[in-house]
Amino acid sequence: MNEPIEKMTPEISAFIEEWKSKPGNLIMVLHQVQQTYGYIPRNIAIEISERLSVPLAKIYGVVTFYNFFKLEKAGKYKIQVCLGTACYIRGGDDLLKALEKELGIGLNSTTPDGLFSIEAVRCLGCCGLAPVIVVNGNVHGRLTSKDVPAIIEQYRKQG
Ligand code: FES
Repeated sequence: MNEPIEKMTPEISAFIEEWKSKPGNLIMVLHQVQQTYGYIPRNIAIEISERLSVPLAKIYGVVTFYNFFKLEKAGKYKIQVCLGTACYIRGGDDLLKALEKELGIGLNSTTPDGLFSIEAVRCLGCCGLAPVIVVNGNVHGRLTSKDVPAIIEQYRKQG
């Protein structure tokens, strides 16, 4: 995987300074980083580790414990697969498998070209259309796994 090197912003740097000696600082800093970049870039995690004197392993322990934190930048097309009850019983899991197969990546990953990422969500509020996937806010409903390649192709064409 090609990991992009992100530049630490002056705002995050100042935030780390401000929180350095306060309790709960690691979570606060990680939230700030996630909000800025949309994920926790590795080089920023290393810098946080040095500046807060927290082992890198502990940072990754926290990041992987909370679903909220992401380790990879989302793709240009962010695919959300609904695994809420209504979608799950109507084959949401099959859609996920078909997406993984079509894109050659697993859940919470991004394709090497940066175009697509897949994440699972719980109920997108349109259960009547189950099973549902949402791509950058566009709802695709009443799908079967056979519909997946055409949907991906449609976004691929847009580049
Ligand atoms: S369970 Fe999927 S939209 Fe509600």
